[in-house]
Amino acid sequence: MSRRMSGPLVGWSLVLGKTLFTLVGVLLMVGCSHRAQELAANGARDTTLAQNAAAIAPSAPPLTYEQRQGKYFYDRYCLVCHGDKGAGDGFNAFNLDPKPHSFADSSYFAAISDASLEQVIELGGRGVNKSVLMPSYGATLNGRDISYVVACLRTFAQSVNPSQ
Ligand code: HEC
Repeated sequence: MSRRMSGPLVGWSLVLGKTLFTLVGVLLMVGCSHRAQELAANGARDTTLAQNAAAIAPSAPPLTYEQRQGKYFYDRYCLVCHGDKGAGDGFNAFNLDPKPHSFADSSYFAAISDASLEQVIELGGRGVNKSVLMPSYGATLNGRDISYVVACLRTFAQSVNPSQ
């Protein structure tokens, strides 16, 4: 069977293609000019809002060296499941049952020692009788790096409850 399109079909797809192209162009132009007007109108208000927000927001303490190192590993290995704020809502979390506790839950995590958290990370859920879906990182991260990660986990509870 021939793979080539017949003449009229090619003609029609060209016309259709051109029409779509023009349409998209027009839509983009309308969209952009509208957005530009909106931006100009909102410019002054946005500046005020940003100033207010900066004035109101409690300034989070800068991360320590350990916390920053830990955050690097966290973002790389843990965020997919545990979420960017540690709430247990990473984009892979829908697959997990049971779901991980939120690291921001200070009343839950305050009762767990750094050593126990390090153990879960090193051995994985399987090693400590928790969900096997929590991977083990003993082969990926050394003891020092794991302690950095725990330092990072602790910051999630701090940012939610600054009084602690
Ligand atoms: C594939 C998803 C996934 C990834 C990736 C993952 N975890 Fe987990 N994690 C889980 C699940 C699921 C649990 C809940 C286990 C349970 O409660 O049975 C958990 C539990 C934990 C716990 C124990 C919390 C508690 O309730 O005591 C710690 C600590 C932890 N994870 C740290 C990490 C760290 C640090 C990383 C990255 C180095 C990481 N996890 C990566 C899925 C994941």
